[in-house]
Amino acid sequence: MAQVGWYGLGSMGLAMASNLQRHLAAKKALNLIYSNRTMSRGAPLQALGAVAESSFEKLVTRCGIIFTMVANDSALQTLLSSALGSGQSLKDKIFVDCSTVHPGIVSTAVSQLKEKDASFVAAPVFGGNPIAVDGKLVFAIGGPRAATEAVKPLIQDVMGRRVIDCGEDATKSSLLKIAGNIVTVNMMEAVGEAQVFAEKTELGTGPMEELIGEAFGAVAGGYSKRLTSGAYAPPLESRPGFGVSLAIKDAKHAMAMAQEQGVQLPGLEVARHNMEAARDYAGECLDSSAMYGRLRQQAGLEFWNEKSRKA
Ligand SMILES: NC(=O)c1ccc[n+]([C@@H]2O[C@H](COP(=O)([O-])OP(=O)(O)OC[C@H]3O[C@@H](n4cnc5c(N)ncnc54)[C@H](OP(=O)(O)O)[C@@H]3O)[C@@H](O)[C@H]2O)c1
Repeated sequence: MAQVGWYGLGSMGLAMASNLQRHLAAKKALNLIYSNRTMSRGAPLQALGAVAESSFEKLVTRCGIIFTMVANDSALQTLLSSALGSGQSLKDKIFVDCSTVHPGIVSTAVSQLKEKDASFVAAPVFGGNPIAVDGKLVFAIGGPRAATEAVKPLIQDVMGRRVIDCGEDATKSSLLKIAGNIVTVNMMEAVGEAQVFAEKTELGTGPMEELIGEAFGAVAGGYSKRLTSGAYAPPLESRPGFGVSLAIKDAKHAMAMAQEQGVQLPGLEVARHNMEAARDYAGECLDSSAMYGRLRQQAGLEFWNEKSRKA
């Protein structure tokens, strides 16, 4: 098996890479080589046997399959540019990006790497940090058949419970991810609205949460818990489960593509506006569900609830 590398140890990446390293160790395969902008984030991974490499270029040199899981389009572009500009041979290397990025970025990466006889696989994921920790993410995978077949055994029942094959056009899996997040962000907005309604009417957030989980499923129930547990506004300097700026990025990608196609996304527009207002008020350290804080303010409540941080 090719040497596997991993770049990006954020809320999602660290959990995913840890499951991948456990799998490689169990198979007695070569240990994962990892890198991250903040290398200290890799300590738990090193404890599992993975090997640190501070330079992304060197990680690419040392690996045949390179996973990336970074915040946004520009972070991914910077990494790919460093690999493409390094002058090293990229022949037969497979780059697998799990981040949520615009299909246009994917399209550029596909052609730039093809020119170097390398492959790009887009493999964005559905599910938050607890699902990543459990190795139960849903992946949407797209790219050249030989590359996706080489990568699937590192994903299925390792980091993910399900791999949706979007075919050889990698932009399709990126598109599916952006489309899926239209649902995610709208659902967070709906759960936030319902919980503010339940609090103001003195129905209570407890029965509301029970109903949301029971009637609308575990995902909606999980979004409700982010509110009632205060995780929508976690302690400063902590890493939010799904940072508000990441969800705003996803909403903007969806709205830009919708506009090109003459599609209206009014629900998403409201949710994006509320996320931006929450960020303006409370800063960057917020979960994507923080539109709830904004909804609370609009209802005459404090942005913070009894379990969130207070400033
Ligand atoms: N969290 C979720 O629930 C979730 C679910 C599905 C998909 N996603 C998507 O998955 C991706 C990662 O999400 P996450 O929640 O893990 O994000 P995160 O916790 O913010 O971590 C972002 C990662 O990207 C790195 N990074 C950021 N800017 C960089 C730059 N300019 N150059 C190099 N590295 C950079 C960070 O390095 P440092 O550690 O040094 O900061 C970190 O490793 C995003 O595209 C997100 O939209 C997230």
